[in-house]
Amino acid sequence: MQLITTGFGMRSTAAEVAASVNLRGKHAIVTGGASGIGVPTALTLAAHGAAVTLAVRNELAAQKVVEEIIATTGNKNVYAATLDLSNRKSIREFTAKWKCPLHILINNAGVMAIPDLQLTEDGLEMQFATNYLGHFELTLGLREALAAAGNARVVAVSSSGHLLSPVIFDDINFDFRFYDPWVAYGQSKSAVILFAVAASKRLAHAGITVNALNPGAIATNLQRHVGGQLKTPPELQKTPEQGAATSILLATAPLMEGKGGHYFENCNEAPVVSKRPADYQGVAAYALDSINADRLWETSLELLAR
Ligand SMILES: NC(=O)c1ccc[n+]([C@@H]2O[C@H](COP(=O)([O-])OP(=O)(O)OC[C@H]3O[C@@H](n4cnc5c(N)ncnc54)[C@H](OP(=O)(O)O)[C@@H]3O)[C@@H](O)[C@H]2O)c1
Repeated sequence: MQLITTGFGMRSTAAEVAASVNLRGKHAIVTGGASGIGVPTALTLAAHGAAVTLAVRNELAAQKVVEEIIATTGNKNVYAATLDLSNRKSIREFTAKWKCPLHILINNAGVMAIPDLQLTEDGLEMQFATNYLGHFELTLGLREALAAAGNARVVAVSSSGHLLSPVIFDDINFDFRFYDPWVAYGQSKSAVILFAVAASKRLAHAGITVNALNPGAIATNLQRHVGGQLKTPPELQKTPEQGAATSILLATAPLMEGKGGHYFENCNEAPVVSKRPADYQGVAAYALDSINADRLWETSLELLAR
């Protein structure tokens, strides 16, 4: 099948991608919007007129970013609201408070390579719970608001780290496997892509388009657990504004209207790979597999029903 291509690339910035976009009257949520690539993602949406809510763990700390975005863009409709994606009560409280149509949901928050096995209150591996399942529950909790928007976009921020592991359905929580921080990150990010595949099928009837992406390599707080371990060659490193470009493209480009279930990197649809390439580019076949996607959807509903 022909890959979707755009005129943008690895060095494109969020501002360039959004240049001709008008988001006035639209509402957007960016999870993790007060740090790293979440900041230029939220700022770009606000700069083009959207009312933007940064969904964050620390609402007070996020207030500074809210003020900076308002000062930079002149858009006063920028807010912070508390959301801990590893805590189901927090997710339920957040979604219960959301009352207006939601045009753009950017599932951006994430943790990477937690050194030791960490479980949530519900006994779920922390990276799977935060990066994937929390966003799954959040999106379903906001489903009516997304449907009310008419043609909403959901953007699922994955990673080239997904090439490190498929979802291991028989042992998602490392009850049997030895825990490995990178395998757990890889599993969670494969789950994020499978979510886009499954959700795009299940939510399309409500006008909700869901896609996944790899933002690229950007020096952010994400690397808090890995010290100097990640040695990305300088030519592959991006600025946060470049890292936010693919999220903004999937959230706003007219070209993506009604086109869901794709995985993008560097602002273009990525080719499917059957083996992890040395440059970590491309998307693993297992992460786009519709049988895996359906299985993960059902598994996720079961996990939330426990
Ligand atoms: N940077 C890269 O090179 C890179 C590469 C590939 C993919 N990504 C993906 O890009 C996304 C953004 O990462 P980033 O690089 O911008 O990192 P970042 O600066 O660390 O931002 C991640 C955000 O997620 C938030 N977060 C973590 N756990 C959370 C939880 N339980 N509930 C709610 N929010 C939570 C963090 O909040 P706190 O500030 O409270 O910790 C932070 O705001 C992530 O999904 C990451 O996996 C990044």
